[in-house]
Amino acid sequence: RFKDRRNRERRGATSPATKLLYKYKQQLTLTPSQITKLDSELQGQIRAGLKAEITTNGLHMLMLPTCVSQIPNGEETGDIYAIDVGGTNFRVKYVRLSAEKSKIESEENFEAPIPKDVMTGTGSALFDFIATRTLNFIMAHEGGQSLEPPLVGFCFSFAIKQLSFNRGILLDWTKGFTCSDVIGHDPVQLLHEAFERAGRQCRVMALLNDTVGVLSAHRYLDQNTCVGIIIGTGTNAAYVEKIGSVKKWSAGPDVDPNAHTIINTEWGAFDSSSLPRCEEDWEVDAATIHKGKYLFEKLLSGMYIGDVARRILLRMARDPSCILFGSKASSDPLIPVALTTKEGFPTSALAKVVEDPGMRPETMARILGVATMSVEACDVVSQVCHLVAERSAQLIALALCAILRHTGWVQNPEGPLTVAFDGGMYEQFAAYRTMIRKAVDEFLGASLGAKITLELVHDGSCVGAAVLAAAATLEHQN
Ligand code: GLC
Repeated sequence: RFKDRRNRERRGATSPATKLLYKYKQQLTLTPSQITKLDSELQGQIRAGLKAEITTNGLHMLMLPTCVSQIPNGEETGDIYAIDVGGTNFRVKYVRLSAEKSKIESEENFEAPIPKDVMTGTGSALFDFIATRTLNFIMAHEGGQSLEPPLVGFCFSFAIKQLSFNRGILLDWTKGFTCSDVIGHDPVQLLHEAFERAGRQCRVMALLNDTVGVLSAHRYLDQNTCVGIIIGTGTNAAYVEKIGSVKKWSAGPDVDPNAHTIINTEWGAFDSSSLPRCEEDWEVDAATIHKGKYLFEKLLSGMYIGDVARRILLRMARDPSCILFGSKASSDPLIPVALTTKEGFPTSALAKVVEDPGMRPETMARILGVATMSVEACDVVSQVCHLVAERSAQLIALALCAILRHTGWVQNPEGPLTVAFDGGMYEQFAAYRTMIRKAVDEFLGASLGAKITLELVHDGSCVGAAVLAAAATLEHQN
């Protein structure tokens, strides 16, 4: 099969499609000088964001303090309902953290997609949606109504200016959300009001970002966990930072500056002219509801990268010299309908193509909804998907390495380090996980890379919400 591919490549080495592909490869592959520049800009934004408040314009990492002054240590216990809002799906999970250290005893789930009109409607409709479904789940789980208000950990995956462990202010919407009257308000307060309207109160003990959730969930099991990364609908990272380094946050006079807290970086908002981009990236941005913001996220995450590949393929399909699809005898190029439809080529399709490097043209034709496909066209689609996935993996690895350089771990790796990942793209796309692993090892060198474990935490945001809510409950009792 490898030989076949080589022969095909040789045959098509000078074909117009190969030439166009070459142009995209040049634009989207990181050069050594881009790597150096981006690494230093990422570290620069990290430092600047820890020093002073950053204007929320969607073009700088926000480096948000989380008010966590006690990082989970596996001793948290309790029965918690975790709510997760911010991706494509809404989830509630019942989590029992047992008295035995680092043991999660029982987990039950409810999951439902958030309808598009709820994501873009009023804030009160969104919070009513969350509250009613949460209460239905709790009632079904309790099998009646207990007297005590249920304890809730609320994972709300957006940029929040945290006022305390369970209070904060939404700074901006991202991904597919634009609900009115929520920016500038406290999501916990809005959730309490919605619980009130639905007829039963809950105690929201913790408000957190999904990255803080995944980091806490894994830290509960493994104390070497220092970074939590989400790569799903959107992307972001949180990491463990020394309290004394967070100049813009005053943790209080009794807090040891050498103790640790968690910072939500909001790296999706990073931007730089050195990022590897093509024209289609700007088209994707222009078609989003948050145009001009969170541009790093738009090069990386599941909500966008299928669309980038679709637009690149569409450009190639429309190019009369390429004739990617259809017969060379006909004067009009054939354009697969999957390429002309806005959500015709989602990231799940891109993942399917990348997972199967020797995909047969018949299979590829089915994905694109065409009757037949040439071997060359099949190869081109495969390479475009690979290119877009690889860029995402490299940028994730690069941003992770910049965090680890900032904390000093790279310069002085005292011990092994674990990075916890969650999110659909990471979970459901094995070849992509391998690309991230490879890029981390390349950027840091094999021997340092070997000290880093990359772990998938299934349902990490929910479990983390439960762990932090349990920690807050214990603190309350003491
Ligand atoms: C977006 C949000 C961020 C979240 C990420 C992953 O970037 O702004 O808070 O963590 O998506 O869900």
